[in-house]
Amino acid sequence: MHRSDDIANLFSRFGGSVESYREIEPSYDYIEEVVAPYNLGLNTTPPMSEIPAPEPLAVSLDPQPTTLVAAEPLSVIASPSLVHAGSTPLSRLLVEIKQQRGGVSAELPVEPAVPRLKAKVIVVVSAKGGVGKSTLVAALACAIKRSGGRTLALDLDPQNALCLHLGGSEDWPGIAESDSADDSWQALIRKGFAGSRCLAYGVAGEPLRRALEQRLENDHLWLARQLARLALDEQDTVVIDTPPGATVYLAQALEIADVVLGVTLADAAAYTSLNQLDRLLAPYLQRENCAQYKVVINQLDTSRQFSLDLCEVLKKRTGHQLMGVIRQDHFISEALAYGRNPLAHTPSTRGCQDVLDLTGSLCELLMYGTQESSLS
Ligand SMILES: Nc1ncnc2c1ncn2[C@@H]1O[C@H](COP(=O)(O)OP(=O)(O)OP(=O)(O)O)[C@@H](O)[C@H]1O
Ligand SMILES: [Mg+2]
Repeated sequence: MHRSDDIANLFSRFGGSVESYREIEPSYDYIEEVVAPYNLGLNTTPPMSEIPAPEPLAVSLDPQPTTLVAAEPLSVIASPSLVHAGSTPLSRLLVEIKQQRGGVSAELPVEPAVPRLKAKVIVVVSAKGGVGKSTLVAALACAIKRSGGRTLALDLDPQNALCLHLGGSEDWPGIAESDSADDSWQALIRKGFAGSRCLAYGVAGEPLRRALEQRLENDHLWLARQLARLALDEQDTVVIDTPPGATVYLAQALEIADVVLGVTLADAAAYTSLNQLDRLLAPYLQRENCAQYKVVINQLDTSRQFSLDLCEVLKKRTGHQLMGVIRQDHFISEALAYGRNPLAHTPSTRGCQDVLDLTGSLCELLMYGTQESSLS
């Protein structure tokens, strides 16, 4: 584009026109007129009409320019309102002009892009504690095997319980103990039950935990970057355990979730907490290309009519979001105590069978993305 076009564009943005300017030679001798010192000891303020008009303003848009001089006072340029002339800030207009001239990159601050993760991410969440998130994350990590892919269970809960569900111990190193923000997590991964892999939270004292949470507060893509460094494949799956309620850990996980799995019990307290969960998730589930939101009812006690009735109410409440119901299963609850894989029992117990059914639905969703996603 020709330079004069640039200038025409610039002035038209200000509501001016190029015709009102004349070109002069760069050797123009600019002589500043001495303005009468109204206030020099006289202490009088002149009326507005007596204030001299602004001097013609020289505008240079070229390193070796033909200088443009306004033929008449250009108050829009001389006044501070220039900075926001029209609805577009001047800084942006200038960047656009530079870009049109070719090859000059924008200098405006841009939001960092979310690092691209090839692996699929399932985030297990609840507004209320003790509903079975950690148990379910461990069971899913054992059960999910997407053709040839690996499954990584990641604990974002300072309780650091997930590793225990996968056959590990508090000795397993964790992400909170990692010395530097730039440390790769590769060395922290441990093998859990049934070929699963586990990244523990780790045993972190108060100062370490607070320091980590401060880091997450300031950098909402911290988790995304850490996982991107693991170079996971498209067939790999990450299942993330989160603490209950609104936390920095939940916020980090929701940035990268493909599926958000809300866990609830079939009881009155859990039922009311579903509204709270909806509110927590709403900002993330209203985004473009947002995660799929699904609900699972856990620990259903089929021997009690009240639980069955509440389950029916929950089914109506969640509609298409309901992805599964896991019945109460003592084999699952005892697996942690005995250090067993919760899905190892053969033939499969009823709760384990429900987890396997849920696994099938999740894998289908990750593969085809067919089910409806947003909050109703
Ligand atoms: N399907 C199930 N059948 C029977 N017991 C279960 C089932 N799922 C989970 N439990 C039991 O429920 C209890 C709570 O489980 P868990 O610790 O996984 O919950 P959580 O949601 O992770 O808790 P928190 O919010 O504190 O992290 C545990 O005793 C666990 O064994
Ligand atoms: Mg837990």
